[in-house]
Amino acid sequence: MRVAVYPGSFDPVTNGHIDILEKISRIFDKIIVAVVHNVSKQALFTLDERVELIRESTKHLDNIEVECFSGLLANYLHSKDACAIIRGLRTVADFEYEMHMGMINKRLIPEVDTIFIMADSRNIFVSSSIIKEAALLGGDVSELVPEIVKLKLEAKRREME
Ligand code: COA
Repeated sequence: MRVAVYPGSFDPVTNGHIDILEKISRIFDKIIVAVVHNVSKQALFTLDERVELIRESTKHLDNIEVECFSGLLANYLHSKDACAIIRGLRTVADFEYEMHMGMINKRLIPEVDTIFIMADSRNIFVSSSIIKEAALLGGDVSELVPEIVKLKLEAKRREME
């Protein structure tokens, strides 16, 4: 069974992430979306909320599992018997960081390759931070995130008022 891991903060999941998942779900037997607590980022949603939002938004895909992980990605990949790490590339600005991360992961776990998937042109400018900022200031993000994420962002906005 070909298992791929798609790691990231997903705070929150966006249509850009869903587009990548739809593409890779056709290539691999199983995709594990691994939600990470990134210490350098201030999160809006808890890890459990993020997992739940991804599960709700990927119900139409039958080979996706979602879980949290902490620690070294290479160890996690080993424990899941994964053959690939999936990362989305939007613009050339993503490339250098992704290349370095891909290289270190290759050193740490040589049997796993990083596979880059090109983001759809509609999502080139989409990032979780930009969506959080727009939504919390009252902007309409309905075309950029799944409906459930839009509703949760509206609820967070009301909590903060
Ligand atoms: N559509 C929309 N947005 C996208 C996207 C796409 N296709 N691809 C990336 N992004 C955005 C994300 O929303 C995120 O936006 P944000 O910065 O506003 O939150 C940003 O691009 C990239 O973040 P993300 O994909 O969540 O990755 P990350 O940089 O937060 O985390 C990990 C990267 C989790 C893979 C990495 O930190 C990791 O492996 N951590 C484990 C520890 C470890 O093993 N470290 C050593 C390995 S180098």
